[in-house]
Amino acid sequence: MKIIIVGAAGAVGKTAADALSGKHEIIRVGRTSGDVQMDIEDINSIRAMYQQVGKVDAVVSAVGHVHFGPVHEMNSEQFMSGIYGKVLPQVNLVLEGVDYVNDGGSFTMTSGVLNRDPIPGAACAAAANGALDGFVKAAAVDMPRGIRINIVSPEVLESCREKYDGFFPGHVHVSDEAVGLAYSKAVEGCLTGQLFVVE
Ligand SMILES: NC(=O)c1ccc[n+]([C@@H]2O[C@H](COP(=O)([O-])OP(=O)(O)OC[C@H]3O[C@@H](n4cnc5c(N)ncnc54)[C@H](OP(=O)(O)O)[C@@H]3O)[C@@H](O)[C@H]2O)c1
Repeated sequence: MKIIIVGAAGAVGKTAADALSGKHEIIRVGRTSGDVQMDIEDINSIRAMYQQVGKVDAVVSAVGHVHFGPVHEMNSEQFMSGIYGKVLPQVNLVLEGVDYVNDGGSFTMTSGVLNRDPIPGAACAAAANGALDGFVKAAAVDMPRGIRINIVSPEVLESCREKYDGFFPGHVHVSDEAVGLAYSKAVEGCLTGQLFVVE
């Protein structure tokens, strides 16, 4: 398969790239890194990426940033950063990409644990994750030509233990290999409309 992985150099994207490389042709996409550069927050940049890469069998996105902070200090603009930083970029990757995905191909998006098991200051993150989880469930019904769409929702990765030290008290850290297997299942498997929780 020819597979685009957006954010392949990141912590989560690397698990997908490790799980799928060797068996497939991987096109690594990042803002500054990878085989192709794209700004996923700019729809024209998404279009240019698809035009450059052409038809593919699968698109994986493992990107997104949100605002962290308590709701009583959050303003509307900060909340919307979760929409513009995590939800809309991944949704646009699907909307712009359907015509570039071969029959029977797939999209795999990324949300995260915080709408299931929040930490303080995570309302924006939780809303973004919930929006993406809901989008995938319903979008699967509409997908043409046997195209599948799923989403991976991991706990904090083992490789990010130090980066998030103290922010996720009591949370389990999941192995990077287990997260990679969820992307493998989404891309190489047969299911659609699924939320693959890794915890
Ligand atoms: N890390 C975790 O434990 C964890 C757990 C659950 C969910 N998640 C979710 O997984 C997603 C990725 O997190 P991460 O920890 O892997 O992040 P990360 O390590 O910071 O990696 C982000 C990746 O996305 C790329 N990227 C950033 N902004 C971009 C843009 N505007 N256009 C295109 N590519 C862009 C980066 O490209 P460059 O390499 O070129 O900079 C990088 O490859 C986030 O939505 C996060 O909430 C993470």
